[in-house]
Amino acid sequence: MLTDNHGRKINYLRLAVTDRCNLRCFYCMPQEGLSWLSRKELMTYEEMLQTCSLLVKMGVEKIRITGGEPFVRKDIMQFMTALSKLDGLNELTLTTNGVLTAPHVPELKKIGVKSVNLSLDTLDAGRFFTITRRDEFSNVMETLEELLKHDIEVKINAVVMDSRNTQDIIPLTELTKELPVSVRFIEEMPFNGDGHVYSGIQWNHMRILDEVKDKYPLIKKLPDPLNSTSYNYQIPGHQGSVGIIAAYSRTFCGTCNRIRITPTGELKTCLYEAGGLNIKDLMRQGTDDEQLKYILLNAFQHKAKNGWEAERARVEGVGVHESMASIGG
Ligand code: 5AD
Ligand code: SF4
Repeated sequence: MLTDNHGRKINYLRLAVTDRCNLRCFYCMPQEGLSWLSRKELMTYEEMLQTCSLLVKMGVEKIRITGGEPFVRKDIMQFMTALSKLDGLNELTLTTNGVLTAPHVPELKKIGVKSVNLSLDTLDAGRFFTITRRDEFSNVMETLEELLKHDIEVKINAVVMDSRNTQDIIPLTELTKELPVSVRFIEEMPFNGDGHVYSGIQWNHMRILDEVKDKYPLIKKLPDPLNSTSYNYQIPGHQGSVGIIAAYSRTFCGTCNRIRITPTGELKTCLYEAGGLNIKDLMRQGTDDEQLKYILLNAFQHKAKNGWEAERARVEGVGVHESMASIGG
């Protein structure tokens, strides 16, 4: 079993396969996008597969593919198919914005993907355009339909933004009435890619819950799965459930089982850490699997206790201002 310096089991890898995206969610990146990584700065599929294979041998049981938007990287399905065959990998999942995803759903089903996180912050096409700066709402809804049709579990990720989409909290909650989806409201985090100073949030997890409770006083707490990042609830009679992710308040770090690899191959043992160890660079310098294993094991012994500690440990002046797309959502 793979553990960290706090005795927590490490069994979940979030692998970001690209920093590029076909949306421009303003909480993630500026209108003009990011200064995209060049192809040689990215990990190749071979490097990613080798890393994943090693990590699975070391004890990782679940891998989530994220980005940027995974489907803007060429041949992503071929890569995921290869990953799905790794011995010891119990769960392969994906976070996507749903713009290009619908045609790939049958293939996702075929390779054994049982659950997909779909980013969707509003059910209003106009607000979708304001938030993402792209007119793609209908494609995302088609992806949602396809996923449900293929019996793939869907978690909808909705970032709650003051004066942008708080009017969507109730309609999104309402969606759980007829659809077996889990709608998860996420506190907005400071990873907006534009370097703006960030002074806390207006809508934290408690305020979001109050908003939902106000409309649905009978809402019930569900037991939260181990390592869950969300507080989970269900409205009696609804098919789906509601989750709230305190991504900014960071109340879930105590049971953290996650590590991340960014599109450039940087290992992040916490979302809020500055990062340092670059797996791709080590590989290209000729580090073999055995050496890499020890380097990784050592890195896991320096995992921050929580996101607050990781943020404090950042070098003075290097505040949190990257984009989620360059870290991996
Ligand atoms: N705050 C909170 N969530 C964010 N995401 C992207 N940027 C932010 C942010 N600044 C979310 C996306 C996606 C997930 C991978 O991360 O909406 O659902
Ligand atoms: Fe793209 Fe996701 Fe960032 Fe939106 S939040 S711009 S969908 S990577």
